[in-house]
Amino acid sequence: MKIKSAEFVMSNSDVEKCPKSRLPEYAFIGRSNVGKSSLINMLTDRKSLAKTSGRPGKTQLINHFLINKNWHLVDLPGYGYARVSKSSKKTFQKFITQYFALREQLVTAFVLVDIRHEPQTIDLEFMQWLGENGIPFSIIFTKADKLKPMAIKRHVEDYKNILLETWENVPNYFITSSSNGVGQEDVLGYIEGLNKNMNLEFH
Ligand code: GTP
Ligand code: MG
Repeated sequence: MKIKSAEFVMSNSDVEKCPKSRLPEYAFIGRSNVGKSSLINMLTDRKSLAKTSGRPGKTQLINHFLINKNWHLVDLPGYGYARVSKSSKKTFQKFITQYFALREQLVTAFVLVDIRHEPQTIDLEFMQWLGENGIPFSIIFTKADKLKPMAIKRHVEDYKNILLETWENVPNYFITSSSNGVGQEDVLGYIEGLNKNMNLEFH
């Protein structure tokens, strides 16, 4: 899919205030610093559409971006970031879970995990929660530029094996790097396919 336009729409802490349009939407979620905002920039070929930072906790709101005038990408705050105060951490968690529970336009979530790390409980728990709530998701492995091809293969296999302890099937997954663009076509192609299905359903 060619990205012809990518525009920031709005930021919210309240899911009720998010855009009312029924455009199909795709959200990026995962631990702070995993590379959610960087991935949005990589996918859209924009340097600083979404704000990124080397320090965790950069994205603190629900951010909507309008792509090709007909679908939304959503950048969310990370979970599992301990440096924010307990009370504001709870607010993040509440509005993150509210976003997923209430946002009917959401077609699928992308759960980002850093390909270098072993499966983390918080990520597995979040996927479990999505499953229990009937929210479709795919996994996006980030920062693939940090590992050699053999190590990528091994880490993905290990991750699949852990998932198969609780899931019947391994969810759809993508290997990406925002530094070198790996995975861009795969993720955009997947979204394009889902957008087409949505149109078939509605027309
Ligand atoms: P929060 O908004 O704090 O939840 O973080 P985030 O998940 O949006 O992460 P962000 O995109 O801000 O990136 C965090 C750090 O990881 C930045 O220093 C990025 O440059 C770096 N980073 C993100 N993606 C990649 C990648 O694919 N490869 C490498 N090498 N670094 C990356
Ligand atoms: Mg961010």
